[in-house]
Amino acid sequence: METINSISNMTELSANWRREGLSIALVPTMGYFHEGHLALMRMARTEADRVVVSLFVNPSQFGPGEDLERYPRDLERDARLARDQGVDCLFCPSAEEMYLPGFQTWISVERLSQGLCGASRPGHFRGVATVVAKLFNITCPDIAVFGQKDFQQLRIIQRMVKDLNMPIDIMAHPIVREPDGLAMSSRNSYLSKEERRSAVSLYQALMRAKEMVADGIRSGQDIIQAVREHILSYANTEIDYIFLGDPEELKEYREVHGKTLLALAVWVGETRLIDNMLLVQ
Ligand code: PAJ
Repeated sequence: METINSISNMTELSANWRREGLSIALVPTMGYFHEGHLALMRMARTEADRVVVSLFVNPSQFGPGEDLERYPRDLERDARLARDQGVDCLFCPSAEEMYLPGFQTWISVERLSQGLCGASRPGHFRGVATVVAKLFNITCPDIAVFGQKDFQQLRIIQRMVKDLNMPIDIMAHPIVREPDGLAMSSRNSYLSKEERRSAVSLYQALMRAKEMVADGIRSGQDIIQAVREHILSYANTEIDYIFLGDPEELKEYREVHGKTLLALAVWVGETRLIDNMLLVQ
């Protein structure tokens, strides 16, 4: 596995592969790999001749007062894990080269970025869409793999690719969970022992909602109330949002009907966790 820092070297390597007729899959990440990231890499490995994993803690998707500086990093371990998954190239650009002085071009996927995480993290998805578009331009992939854990992010990228005619297949990987159900996340490393116990409430609440739907309950309000109560019964939890709605357009529903997504963001102490589940597939 090759590690590349310079943008021009990455572009050149991708161009060479393409000239040889090799297909390329990209897995964009911010590093500090866990089993969720590795599963995306393995999916990419089965889908293309060459796999590029980008590792870039993208400053433009962090708001003021968010965790950009303390975001966990371990490049050596990440490189080892990526190599073990059969990744061909780890692309780690610098923030200085990604955002040159005078940078002023942004991609905003407008309506889809407004609700859910977009409401409490203004500018977050503009940063995500822009950096992902840049990574696409630099690595020229045929395929890019994203996780369903960041459901709104996945929808935004799918929309961007469609709206801007980017010739890239977006593949979605299901959420990878810890044995007790907690969705894996680099940010789980922030949790204290006690907070880790509270963190499982997100998954439990989603499962509870799924059971309610299986029992014939349809009222969005009732389901959201039960989810809220379950999460708040744990120590140190504070709800950012609970969304029940259409998984395509991310529009709220009053009642469960057809495919219905339940998505939530919860503060556990100082750590903001997200999770989601399709209540009706
Ligand atoms: P990051 O949080 O590092 O996640 C990288 C990819 O891994 C994303 O597609 C995310 O959805 C996926 N992922 C994370 N945890 C997962 C889990 N438990 N199960 C399945 N997939 C999981 O998301 C980002 O980075 C950034 O916003 C990025 C897209 C790289 C742009 O900067």
